[in-house]
Amino acid sequence: MSRCIRLGALASGGGSNVQSIIDHIESKRLDAQISILLSDNPEAGVLKRAERHGIPRKVIRPAAFEKRAEHDRAMIHALQQRDVELVILAGYMRIISPEFVQAFPNRIMNIHPALLPAFPGVHVQQKAAVYGVRFSGCTVHFVDEGMDTGPIILQAVVPVVPGDTGETLGARILKQEHRLYPEAVRLYSEGRLRVEGRHVLISDHRVEADQCLINPPFGGTDVS
Ligand code: GAR
Repeated sequence: MSRCIRLGALASGGGSNVQSIIDHIESKRLDAQISILLSDNPEAGVLKRAERHGIPRKVIRPAAFEKRAEHDRAMIHALQQRDVELVILAGYMRIISPEFVQAFPNRIMNIHPALLPAFPGVHVQQKAAVYGVRFSGCTVHFVDEGMDTGPIILQAVVPVVPGDTGETLGARILKQEHRLYPEAVRLYSEGRLRVEGRHVLISDHRVEADQCLINPPFGGTDVS
């Protein structure tokens, strides 16, 4: 059973992932509300998006604090004040402190533009293109105290094609991010996610165990 969960979104940039969550909520595909949007960046495009949709928003600038933990404490306070149940990091480009993680145990999700545990960190679309992998994709995971190491909820795989750059591959991945993140939040809101160690168990879901992607496909003609 789905229930309207209160989300706190953290974003530093353009906010297309936040927009996708907003769109899913407004079209009733996701039973949730964004109770507050927090950003570390006063110039972030995501603030305008939130404003357009009447979402409460607040900029908490790291420079206003001496220590990272103090900045995080202000973030935690803002989220708790709004009674946030699930925190979603959507292009939030700062590492959050252990204290932050402990304040929302298994209640912080992140979206990462690679197939973790491959390519953690930043500029990973470009790193994947340069490395020569045949597939990349995106990962939604719960946040633990490591960097991009938390239990994986969902992943989407996209092919890397000849001539891909970080930009072209990143655009292909981003399209899937916009589908994946709302789905992970929906599973959470329906109470279907349970964390056991490194594993996230999803109730009532189907796996197509014989599915296999090969890139390039056998016998295909390379038209690039
Ligand atoms: C997304 O690709 C997201 O996966 C990535 O930043 C982009 C934000 O785009 N996040 C990270 O790299 C976090 N390590 P958006 O602002 O348009 O949602």
